[in-house]
Amino acid sequence: MTARGSVRTTVEAETGGAFDYLAKPFDLKDLLAVIQRAERSRETQPEGEAAEDLEQFGGMIGFSTPMVDVYKRIARSARSDETVLILGESGVGKELVAKAIHDHSPRSNKTLRGGGLRAVTGSLLESEVFGALRGSFTGADRDRPGIIETARGGTLFFDEVGEVPLEFQAKLLRFLQEKEYRPVGAGAPRKADVRVIAATNRSLEEMVREGSSGRPALPPERPSD
Ligand SMILES: Nc1ncnc2c1ncn2[C@@H]1O[C@H](COP(=O)(O)OP(=O)(O)OP(=O)(O)O)[C@@H](O)[C@H]1O
Ligand SMILES: [Mg+2]
Repeated sequence: MTARGSVRTTVEAETGGAFDYLAKPFDLKDLLAVIQRAERSRETQPEGEAAEDLEQFGGMIGFSTPMVDVYKRIARSARSDETVLILGESGVGKELVAKAIHDHSPRSNKTLRGGGLRAVTGSLLESEVFGALRGSFTGADRDRPGIIETARGGTLFFDEVGEVPLEFQAKLLRFLQEKEYRPVGAGAPRKADVRVIAATNRSLEEMVREGSSGRPALPPERPSD
């Protein structure tokens, strides 16, 4: 238990094999519930990653119960290699969370790549992310690596992922599922070992319900007669 939780202490507790980690003050019945869960899960926990360099962490402030809860999720996401989506209103610290996950992950020896997708438009977005081959458009006098290429072996941060046009989403999905992408002008797809962390302050579920995209690149579909 802790009265001053931080990402560092939470990661330490988790890599040290702690089953759970409680922020003070807590209800005794919550403690009992945790102990009961621990008793039920007798199977051995997977070994934590070797102690990582914890010095480089950028400092997240807050040790309330909800923040320690965020730290726990950071610690768990850092251990896994799965794609992560960080949701939350503007200014709540999504970028800090993305950085903390990367910094505590086995990929932390590479810099976190990527950034906001809002500013980049249409076909530029595609060459920005997937890269472009020489001659694929006017002025492309050499092969240009996309951010996926530069993130090879590391982590890619797709900020403002709620803003990308629908047609790009399909290509992004292929990359998320198969780790496969095609640079602009390339005939064959390529593969890259890249872990993706995405973030948005939009309500994606609502956008899906409404069938809207951040920046519709195509006219809205009308049911054909
Ligand atoms: N827990 C925290 N401790 C210290 N600084 C924080 C914390 N949460 C947020 N901040 C600071 O608040 C500012 C906004 O955080 P950040 O840019 O990560 O927000 P965001 O969720 O990405 O917002 P947006 O949706 O607008 O991009 C940053 O300067 C960040 O360092
Ligand atoms: Mg942000």
